Amino acid sequence: MNTQSYIQFALLKLVLVTSLIAVNPVVIAADDEAVSKSLTTLFRASRKVISDNQSMINDESKGEKGLSGAAVAQMAMDNYQKAAGSPLAKNPAENAMLAAVKEVMADAQDLINQQGVGFKGFLPAVFARQVATRFSQKMSGSMTIKLTAPKKYVRNRANRPDKWEHNIIEAKFSSEGYERGKPFSESAAIKGKMAFRYILPEYYGESCLGCHGKPEGELDITGGKKEGGVLGELGGAISLAIFK
Ligand code: HEC
Repeated sequence: MNTQSYIQFALLKLVLVTSLIAVNPVVIAADDEAVSKSLTTLFRASRKVISDNQSMINDESKGEKGLSGAAVAQMAMDNYQKAAGSPLAKNPAENAMLAAVKEVMADAQDLINQQGVGFKGFLPAVFARQVATRFSQKMSGSMTIKLTAPKKYVRNRANRPDKWEHNIIEAKFSSEGYERGKPFSESAAIKGKMAFRYILPEYYGESCLGCHGKPEGELDITGGKKEGGVLGELGGAISLAIFK
């Protein structure tokens, strides 16, 4: 082998080795990405059952609402299929989320089936927080999910963004050219533990503004202060971590 072809051979090896190193994390990340997409879609599909049924939940004349754990889990799976275009794959994490949905609804029965009480405080965000807490417990430290929001818009301190979430919300989601609705993911440490982190932006729709809209500071039906948000504005984010 002459010098030139030796150098070419060495370069080729270098290219091959580097591309192997480069390809490997991408393969792992693609899987984490798919799991994250499935779980955040299911999370939203479940929450949609509560928003779709909000006026019935708030109906003081109606007792039994028919929103048992099993019924809500079934509607969540139907919503998932509509949103994702394929049926939910029942992997352990998806099953854990469905189990969390069932438990939250089982606990909510007395509250939501009360007659003579209109607004009961059982809202999509409240349901989502309870499901997130139970899901994260069930995954015993291997995965966590959370509904959060831009710092200035956080109502419940339990939903405050951590440093990483805050940074992505401010530096990416709120920046001019950031593609609407596009999730962001990367490897990052959480309290010293490495994780695949995934965060999905959410925007205020018309139905949100009765509580999160203008005039800022006015009390909404829940007794909380309106944020002064506007239609289409970044209002929240779903954040998922898969620990390594
Ligand atoms: C009936 C009033 C009401 C409506 C309508 C409403 N929200 Fe909320 N939202 C609340 C309350 C109250 C909380 C605090 C829930 C809790 O205790 O975790 C909240 C919490 C949130 C959070 C979690 C962060 C935080 O502030 O604690 C997000 C994100 C959010 N809402 C987004 C939305 C979006 C998007 C919509 C419309 C699709 C919407 N909300 C509709 C009242 C409302």
